[in-house]
Amino acid sequence: MTQLIFYLTLFLSYIAFSSAYNYSSYAPPSVVLNDRYFVEVEQEIRVGFRLYDASSVKKDSKVIKYQNLQYTTNTPDVKFPRVVGNNNKLYFFGVNGNDDVFETTIMFSFDINEKVWNELKDVNMPSHLDPNQEENFVGPDSNGNAYLFYNDYNVMVSFNTETLEWNEYTIQSFVPTGYSYYTWYTATILPDGTIAYIGGQFTSGTAGSIDAPMNQVYIYDTNTHVWAAKSTIGNPPGPRNSHSASLTSDGRIIVYGGVDANNNPANPSLAVLDINKFEWSTPNVNNPIGSIYLAPSVIINDLMFLYVGINVTTPVYNAFNKVYMLDTSTYTWSSLDPVATNTDDNIYNSGNNQLTGGNDGTANRNDLTMTLIIILIVIGSILVVAILGVTFYKLYQSRRPRQISPKIIDNPQQSAQSKV
Ligand SMILES: *[C@@H]1O[C@H](CO)[C@@H](O)[C@H](O)[C@H]1NC(C)=O
Ligand SMILES: *[C@@H]1O[C@H](CO)[C@@H](O)[C@H](O)[C@H]1NC(C)=O
Repeated sequence: MTQLIFYLTLFLSYIAFSSAYNYSSYAPPSVVLNDRYFVEVEQEIRVGFRLYDASSVKKDSKVIKYQNLQYTTNTPDVKFPRVVGNNNKLYFFGVNGNDDVFETTIMFSFDINEKVWNELKDVNMPSHLDPNQEENFVGPDSNGNAYLFYNDYNVMVSFNTETLEWNEYTIQSFVPTGYSYYTWYTATILPDGTIAYIGGQFTSGTAGSIDAPMNQVYIYDTNTHVWAAKSTIGNPPGPRNSHSASLTSDGRIIVYGGVDANNNPANPSLAVLDINKFEWSTPNVNNPIGSIYLAPSVIINDLMFLYVGINVTTPVYNAFNKVYMLDTSTYTWSSLDPVATNTDDNIYNSGNNQLTGGNDGTANRNDLTMTLIIILIVIGSILVVAILGVTFYKLYQSRRPRQISPKIIDNPQQSAQSKV
């Protein structure tokens, strides 16, 4: 009984602990591989890992093919993965799901052709994810380097996708006085090796959050490891965080969606920053998507794709029913039906090959957690009633004059002795 109570307590505290983790505080990775694929990974690789093939998608296409890869043999238990791709390989850096307190980091590579996972053990990776490091890897650049900004420590870390080496650079802080860190920005690597940080917010424990200005862009130079604020020209769009940004081949950063520090949808949703002049423009286009945030975008063949995120009308992190596509030359939107390459791959079981938002793996996981909690509450209540019952029974017995009868002796040894 004591053991049962012990394990029950352990399990309940585990559940309490894991739900304390803020699953929504996570910007899903946007990853382009070989100018052909983009990748959707959920908070856990085992819950959702899809590879979309955009290579044959044209402006007038109606479908996009994808593969579900979370069920490959030996899919590792990596939570909150940061992902970067290079030459048919994806590198996952995240929290070790086998660690009971979800603290240590772990790394795997995945070969998209061989479908083989490989743990990277001796790569000197950072031992923790920074609590305020919500972004994904930026890059890789032409040298194979991908970057992660560790806000809380004023450190930029880099991972080289060719040598598998990690490096760390101490950088100066640039947040305004009174604020402690910079969050929910986007980071876009430019051809000259600089990274443009756009929007986001400055946060402090006491002063709350303020919008980062949109009339300047923070530029981090990966060659010198120095920051500089760069003023933009043109009319900047409304402030935003948790938006998306990706670069066209002719040097336009397409900024889309997000919310401001008061959680109002960013306005206008679509804005364009020309990096040749650092000039903003806001094309006047019809938006068929509604207001979304934490929805990463990718650009392949100058078509921009949006496929997962949070819709302000139903604030749940989900794969969208459709993949939304923006033709970045005319700013025209359309949508594509995702079709599983192999129908057995379709885990959504909706009778067709479409992803069904609202029935995404995350939701199932939450349902499962709720079911577990309910079962545990029921077991807990039964145990409490049983313990109380036994206690009262014992109390009642101890107050009664003892009946000494050989019949109630059920210890075999004692029974044997009493027979002697
Ligand atoms: C979780 O993150 C969201 C999005 O940033 C935030 O609004 C919310 O307050 C956070 N919840 C907790 C419990 O920290
Ligand atoms: C967001 O929700 C609105 C209202 O329900 C809906 O019209 C729109 O299609 C949704 N957008 C996405 C991307 O799911």
